[in-house]
Amino acid sequence: MRILVTGASGLLGLNMALEASRQHEVFGSVNNNVIKTTEFTVIQSDFTVPGALERLLDECQPEWVINCAALANLDACEADPALAEQLNSELPEKLANYVAKGGARLVHISTDAVFDGKRGDYTEQDEPNPLSLYARTKLEGEHAVLTANPQAIVARVNLFGWSLSGNRSLAEWFFNNLSAGNSIRGFTDVFFCPLLANDLAKIILRMLELNMQGLYHVVASECSSKYEFGVRLARLFNLDESLISPALVSESGLGAVRSPNLTLNSDKLRSELGDSPPDLKAGLEQFHAQYQNGYPEFIRKMGK
Ligand SMILES: NC(=O)c1ccc[n+]([C@@H]2O[C@H](COP(=O)([O-])OP(=O)(O)OC[C@H]3O[C@@H](n4cnc5c(N)ncnc54)[C@H](OP(=O)(O)O)[C@@H]3O)[C@@H](O)[C@H]2O)c1
Repeated sequence: MRILVTGASGLLGLNMALEASRQHEVFGSVNNNVIKTTEFTVIQSDFTVPGALERLLDECQPEWVINCAALANLDACEADPALAEQLNSELPEKLANYVAKGGARLVHISTDAVFDGKRGDYTEQDEPNPLSLYARTKLEGEHAVLTANPQAIVARVNLFGWSLSGNRSLAEWFFNNLSAGNSIRGFTDVFFCPLLANDLAKIILRMLELNMQGLYHVVASECSSKYEFGVRLARLFNLDESLISPALVSESGLGAVRSPNLTLNSDKLRSELGDSPPDLKAGLEQFHAQYQNGYPEFIRKMGK
């Protein structure tokens, strides 16, 4: 397949492009970050420039488009609502319209943060209630995609992994701080079910192969608090878990509002895949194995 991965310099997009390029011809779009790799074809494209997306699509002629581009930083969205709207809502709509016309397939990546986190274990039928501008614009993007192209896949995800900058994911944040001997806080009142980016990428590719359509919760089979996640990571890497103090997000003073319980129910995915997504233990062990095999350096070298 000819696959376009947008946001191929991001945490998910880069790992997605690398996983996909094992079996497919992959084009990865980047904006500010430069990537040097022979694994896939890198194309620079700023989607805020009029006509840029259309030129990219014409150049790649993709059969599958996996949209990992976004303004995914909560505080950046609050600081620039117009940009958040453009990248998180309008861009997915344009992609959905493009694929609806040409017969390509689209996967649009969304977020667990569309829920307010008051309850947890949300299914695809539960009503979202986004609290932040980021979450609101992401929910608009979901609606726009499924309205323009009901055959598209919208995947609500949460993830961790090794990134180009070395500090994009929560797992890297725990790893970097614990390795440096820094005391940090871990939230005991924020729950999530993150997948390793590479496992998430493999599941998304499988969903495309199986011709799935519509809205799915694509998360790990097991959930935890962010504190527990950090402690489990520390134990695997043999780092000092006592550097992590249990803390409450409500008392953290973080800018944008965070939803506390973002655990998602992935039964729909599980039954259609005929398999369970990896649990946290498997994801963290794989993250550790990647570290031992030099994967973080392999990734970071692409940015130099
Ligand atoms: N990270 C998480 O924990 C998490 C959790 C839930 C859901 N998600 C969702 O997962 C998806 C991927 O997130 P991520 O964490 O991988 O994001 P990320 O690391 O912030 O990457 C964002 C990507 O979008 C690109 N981009 C930004 N502005 C652009 C523009 N004007 N034109 C073209 N490309 C642009 C960036 O390119 P440059 O870097 O080259 O500028 C980068 O490749 C998003 O839809 C996000 O909402 C992420």
